[in-house]
Amino acid sequence: MRRLKNSMERERFSTGLAVFLATLSSTVGLGNIWKFPYLTGKYGGGAFLIVYLLCCVFVALPVMVSELLIGRKTRKNPIGAFKMLSKRPFWKIIGYTGIVSACFILFFYSAVAGWVYSYIFKALSGTFNNASMEDMEQLFNKTVTGPLPPVIWQIVSIIVVSTILIFGVKKGIERFTKLLMPVLLILIVICDIRALFLPGAVGGIKFLFKIDFSGLSKEAVLMALGLSFFKLSLGMGTIITYGSYFTADNNLFATSGKVTLADTIVSLLAGLAIFPAVFSFGMKPEQGPGLLFMTIPLVFSKIPLGSVLVVLFFVLTAIAATTAMMSIFEVVITFIIEEKKLSRQKAVIITAVVIILFGIPSALSANNTSLLSNYKIFGQTFFNFFDSVSSNILLPLGGLLIVIFTGYFLDRHTVREELSNKGTLNNGVLIKIYLFLLKFITPVLLLIVFLSMTGII
Ligand code: TRP
Repeated sequence: MRRLKNSMERERFSTGLAVFLATLSSTVGLGNIWKFPYLTGKYGGGAFLIVYLLCCVFVALPVMVSELLIGRKTRKNPIGAFKMLSKRPFWKIIGYTGIVSACFILFFYSAVAGWVYSYIFKALSGTFNNASMEDMEQLFNKTVTGPLPPVIWQIVSIIVVSTILIFGVKKGIERFTKLLMPVLLILIVICDIRALFLPGAVGGIKFLFKIDFSGLSKEAVLMALGLSFFKLSLGMGTIITYGSYFTADNNLFATSGKVTLADTIVSLLAGLAIFPAVFSFGMKPEQGPGLLFMTIPLVFSKIPLGSVLVVLFFVLTAIAATTAMMSIFEVVITFIIEEKKLSRQKAVIITAVVIILFGIPSALSANNTSLLSNYKIFGQTFFNFFDSVSSNILLPLGGLLIVIFTGYFLDRHTVREELSNKGTLNNGVLIKIYLFLLKFITPVLLLIVFLSMTGII
């Protein structure tokens, strides 16, 4: 096992394009198709989008460059990487917060993946044919209210992921499914085109691009920041692992920029399919987690062959959700295998049981109609608690520690060598800007958000 792992660590992505696509495949997921539109709808459209983009540039991008740099320099997993770069055991904390983040994300991600699975079967049985907006609302409520459907589908999604991981066929499945993702993108673009021609679609475009900061709350800023981490898979060490497979001549700035841009475009394309439909069908944009599920089937119902395409859409979204879950799950089981010296099979089973136990309360509290929606921890439903603690606290905290480590504790020479590919790239100015952001801007912005969360500011 160990030999295999070492040899895998020496493996490298072969071309620049392969590096870009592999990293992008980790960042694109339910975050783009489900979470980005629902949060943008809930927190006010254009103004939220601008704050999200600013968070991407001034916070997420420096974190991504730092994670890639640490990964490529050490060619190790997150815990091993910090062990190699620093003698202080303190930095191992980044690895540990990553494990907790991964678990918390899985508690709610598995529930949402379950809804997607169940929509495949609804699409197959023609449930969406001639459906009205009210029908779609009822259908979503029925899917998430409970007790049984949301829990069963969530457990199905966890069993699918566990089976793939136990049989060790993750790599094979990923290789195959990566090829399918462009098809999902084409389907989203088809939806975009149709949605833009719906009566009243302009309302959706205005909502998405009209910038009005007057309604922007403090909470919205925190959400936008958390979303940028969640969307770009940052703050947990995932991107450190990707960096460990990069070639020595890869331009880390260029790759980070391209991945962030492409990921944002996919999110915007999802938004452009959903918001025109929201306004055309007279829905509320602040609908919440059901937004995707209520709108997309209606858009497809207005497209020739839509009843077939909608099945394909949910199958491909389910695949994207499953592969994202696999990569997050892998973080936890690698930790259990290495630290607790358990077999892979045992590690997967333990993780799956924990996710089911804590996942069930989140699956039963996603919506205000859900069975456990009146039970609160720290004033939030279980679903929102696991989502917000992971996205808004743990991932940004991981990000803060990573930028402080890279900006203040990693020696300057190593940073320069790694970012300029040992002087072969002529990017001294870019490195200066990056270091300035890393030392003075990114950590300060993160601290301000943390302090405002605790009410100190
Ligand atoms: N970024 C993915 C999405 O948008 C989710 C994801 C995968 C993730 N791996 C991660 C989030 C690691 C945080 C950390 O769906």
